[in-house]
Amino acid sequence: MANGPTDSSERFPRVVRSVQQLRSDVACARAAGRRVGLVPTMGALHEGHLSLVQAARDECDMTIVSIFVNPTQFGPHEDFDRYPRTMERDLPLLRRVGADLVFAPDRQTIYPEGFSTYVDPPAVGQPWEGQCRPGHFRGVATVVLKLFNLAGADVAYFGRKDYQQARVIQCMVEDLAVPIAVRVCPTVRESDGLALSSRNRYLDADQRERALALWKSLLLARQLVQGGERQAESINGRMQQRLIELGVDRIDYAALVDPVTLQPVARVQQRTVALVAAFVGQTRLIDNLEIEPCSS
Ligand code: PAF
Repeated sequence: MANGPTDSSERFPRVVRSVQQLRSDVACARAAGRRVGLVPTMGALHEGHLSLVQAARDECDMTIVSIFVNPTQFGPHEDFDRYPRTMERDLPLLRRVGADLVFAPDRQTIYPEGFSTYVDPPAVGQPWEGQCRPGHFRGVATVVLKLFNLAGADVAYFGRKDYQQARVIQCMVEDLAVPIAVRVCPTVRESDGLALSSRNRYLDADQRERALALWKSLLLARQLVQGGERQAESINGRMQQRLIELGVDRIDYAALVDPVTLQPVARVQQRTVALVAAFVGQTRLIDNLEIEPCSS
């Protein structure tokens, strides 16, 4: 598969930091008729990321994992500086699941001097995270498009945990005719339901317990819908109440939305997605659950 001298490491998976090397490795794979998968990440990998790598391995002949903590998707008071950078731990995990290549560019490679072109995110990026984290999806869409252009992969893999992000990327790819297929893979959860997130490592034991409130509020929404409740306002209110009872410190939103447009629904008539975002201590967590009105 990828051959030639390594940029920075003799370890498998091969770690590549330059665009030139990435492109030459992908060109070799393509020349050999291989299908290339890309899993964009910011590192601090967990089983959720590894399930994306596994999905890529199942479908593709070469799996690239990008690791880049993207500064433009963090707000001025967010956790960019303390976001975990754990390359030493990430590489053995990637080796375990059989990633072929890690693309780990530095900031200059992605945002060289004079960089000034950004993607204006699609309408699905406006509510929810778009309101709470202004500029976030502009940063995400920009870096993801750049990674797509650099890697030239056939398929890209994202987690459903970031439901709105996945919709932003799907719409961007469609609107701009980006030649890549987007796969959205199921959320991976702890045995008690907590969605895996790189930010879970900020939580102490008490906060970890309280973080379960997000999942429990989603389960409540599903239970209410499947019990016949159709008024979204009432369900949203009950989710918020549950979040508070179970100890979150602040709610950004808890709402039933249309799974395609992400606009709030008034009545639950068909498949709906419950979205939640809340703070536990200083840590902001998000989660979601797709809900069908009929249980059987
Ligand atoms: O989901 C993430 O980890 C990031 O938002 C992404 C898609 C890698 C872009 O930086």
